[in-house]
Amino acid sequence: MDREKISRLSHTDHPINSPLDDESVRRLLQRTVGRGDARVLDLGCGEAAWLLRTLAAHPEVTAEGVDNSAQSLAKARKEAAALGVGERLVLHHQDAAEFTSPHLFDAVLSVGATHAFGGLLPTLDTARRHLAPGGRVLVGDAYWEREPTAEAREMLGEYEDLATTVDRVAAHGWTPVFGHISTRQELDDFEWYWTGSLATWALDHPEDPDSAEILSVASTHRSQWLHSYRDSFGFLTLVLRRTPE
Ligand SMILES: C[S@@+](CC[C@H](N)C(=O)[O-])C[C@H]1O[C@@H](n2cnc3c(N)ncnc32)[C@H](O)[C@@H]1O
Repeated sequence: MDREKISRLSHTDHPINSPLDDESVRRLLQRTVGRGDARVLDLGCGEAAWLLRTLAAHPEVTAEGVDNSAQSLAKARKEAAALGVGERLVLHHQDAAEFTSPHLFDAVLSVGATHAFGGLLPTLDTARRHLAPGGRVLVGDAYWEREPTAEAREMLGEYEDLATTVDRVAAHGWTPVFGHISTRQELDDFEWYWTGSLATWALDHPEDPDSAEILSVASTHRSQWLHSYRDSFGFLTLVLRRTPE
């Protein structure tokens, strides 16, 4: 079945595709987009939920988003038009690691997309290439809250604990100027919305040929979350500036 369909349905009730609630997103954006006329880039923007909020809050901001999902970008474009911010948003359908631009950005965002660059530090290296002097990077990535099971590692990849994650970022030449550690509520909400939106759609559309499979995807995902990684998965979002050499 079409993975894009699952992805689209699973985010119906949680437009930010990361374990962060609206207030956390608002505060993180406030600390990242300093200037009212900033130029903002989102690498792995998905449906551009972060950019749309930024554009709606700041009438002078211009934004660019990069993602390799045509469907997500189509949704972003539609939403931008509905909000009346479409003229200030440029969307690029391509691999975010390969993105090049003739200009630099005052803020570079990349939340929940570090796998596209090969990890957190390579994501920061990419962000740096696009960052104007004095600019800020907003990056969100997983860390291990507790020692993960072998199954969790296999499913989610390799991460460090929270303190080590921040130490590595700092040692890589970045100074955290703000941050947010997703709360238990945010982490659980994200999973409940993800599995719940899929299950609800499947139960509401029993006649759809994909209904049974979508219900099964929701059930498998919920079980993996509860049995394999709920206790070990954490999510950290940092606002960073370059540390002077
Ligand atoms: C977990 S979602 C996060 C979306 C968005 N940053 C948010 O927080 O709502 C990860 C996004 O990265 C995108 N992605 C994954 N690999 C990519 C790549 N190589 N180039 C561009 N986008 C990529 C996916 O299509 C998806 O939209």
